[in-house]
Amino acid sequence: MNVSVWRGGADGAFQRFEVPRHPSQTVLDVVTYIQRVLDPTLAYRFACRVGMCGSCAMTVNGKARWTCRTHIDLVLKEKEEITLAPLRNLPVIRDLVTDMREFFDKWARAKGAFQGSRTRQDDFEKINPQSKKRIEVDAAIECIGCAVCYSSCDVVSWNPDYLGPAALNRAWTLQQDERDTAKQERLQAVAGDAGCHACHTHMSCTERCPKHISPTAGIAGLKRATLFS
Ligand code: SF4
Ligand code: SF4
Ligand code: FES
Repeated sequence: MNVSVWRGGADGAFQRFEVPRHPSQTVLDVVTYIQRVLDPTLAYRFACRVGMCGSCAMTVNGKARWTCRTHIDLVLKEKEEITLAPLRNLPVIRDLVTDMREFFDKWARAKGAFQGSRTRQDDFEKINPQSKKRIEVDAAIECIGCAVCYSSCDVVSWNPDYLGPAALNRAWTLQQDERDTAKQERLQAVAGDAGCHACHTHMSCTERCPKHISPTAGIAGLKRATLFS
């Protein structure tokens, strides 16, 4: 198959490679083949290869996707050629590697760290698994930090200051966590112009999230919470 791969930094260009097809081949297998067999200078990221670490995301035929769990058969059904580029909305370091700093800095800006009140000596808190809040946390907690949603969000493109779907989803899980003690502080952090109210609810993040999380639903929850705070 023909594969065009982004080479260089922001002002780079696509380079074409010919890669043999194999059964059950993933996009990450293709990138690995290019780097191991055709051009060892190709830069890309991966770690787990099983959809856990979130490091392998790229733009595949114009859409942000996790590449270790995206099968070539599926992509070739959409289009006969494969085009691989770095994630959108993040600075390109080189080839398929983006600088993820601002993505994770925004989690910190959204107060994405758990803050509890108990010590090691206290008994652990018992949360009813059937409670509404616990069920909402469970639906949103499986985020692997891949930035697929962030790269798919047009509001991030228009307003680079916008916290983005992943950081806001994280803030939402903590707002629903009955043990967390920083709720007021966190609501203030996400209520500004670059926070939850900037979301246009066009749902690209929810459509693209490989873990089937709905950041849009969490952001709507944050919008409601800021009204009543
Ligand atoms: S919400 Fe989904 S798409 Fe966004 S970073 Fe988490 S796992 Fe990736
Ligand atoms: S729903 Fe909001 S956060 Fe998600 S892609 Fe659209 S504007 Fe971005
Ligand atoms: S390599 Fe870890 S999620 Fe793809």
